Amino acid sequence: MGGTSAEREVSLDSGRNVLEALQARGVDAFSVDGVPALVERVRQGGVDRVFNILHGNKGGGEDGVLQGVLEVLGVPYTGSGVLGSALSMDKIRTKQVWLSCGLPTPRFVRLVNGDDMQAAARSLGLPVFVKPSCEGSSVGAFRIQEEADLAAAQAFAAHYDGELLMEQMIVGDELTVGVLDDGTGPSALPSIRIVPKGEWYDYNAKYMADDTQYLCPGVEDSAEAELQRIALDAFEAVECRGWGRVDVMRDRATGAFYLLEVNTAPGMTSHSLVPKAAAQLGIGFEELCWRVLEGTLA
Ligand code: DAL
Ligand code: MG
Repeated sequence: MGGTSAEREVSLDSGRNVLEALQARGVDAFSVDGVPALVERVRQGGVDRVFNILHGNKGGGEDGVLQGVLEVLGVPYTGSGVLGSALSMDKIRTKQVWLSCGLPTPRFVRLVNGDDMQAAARSLGLPVFVKPSCEGSSVGAFRIQEEADLAAAQAFAAHYDGELLMEQMIVGDELTVGVLDDGTGPSALPSIRIVPKGEWYDYNAKYMADDTQYLCPGVEDSAEAELQRIALDAFEAVECRGWGRVDVMRDRATGAFYLLEVNTAPGMTSHSLVPKAAAQLGIGFEELCWRVLEGTLA
């Protein structure tokens, strides 16, 4: 848990919950903060397996770096491997893979420092989102309704050296589908529709606000199977395994689904979504953590 990414605080929160749940189930579990400390602990011996609840990319965690280290050290770990983690941390490459498989995702432009955001926005048509390709929890994400809104994104971009994704904004419902391997392969949990009190599901609505509404299942019965199928296809297309969460938008006018991204170490805070979806199936938080950990036995 923890680490050095922009999602450190979220990860510490998730990690404390997971640790408590595993200990309650009798697992001899302990917490380690960040990748270097974990490597040190593994070298000292006594680490059988790793429950990875690091979120984000910097310093390794959700981006394939930790997964590669653990492969070398020969320690089993929860969730996706090197390729699935690295691809999923990178929204632009994820979308390129999905498009090559014929999976639906909003139109987008890749931006690097110095690129003309206004021209990009005109080519896509407003509204759009601008966000780092490799961050989570809506850190550094900007919702652009009109050209004047670009100023804030441009100010952020001036000091950000990574790639930015400018993405067509789908006007409609924010949905998410948790994925959990039931021992026979990945399986979709019931979808959730997120109804934030403000305009969109930003960092505040994700972790601070208590007025975000969650509807589960998130779509009408006749559309649920299609949504779950698309989410599973999206998960498998980028080589994910074990567990994760696929974020989706649904166009209000057409009812069509558009894939946004996969989270390979989804949040496990009291506000988080996978625990809510699992609970809908009668899988409590402890049982969920246990099942994710069981994935390391595969
Ligand atoms: N990136 C956060 C932790 C999530 O997807 O839940
Ligand atoms: Mg994310």
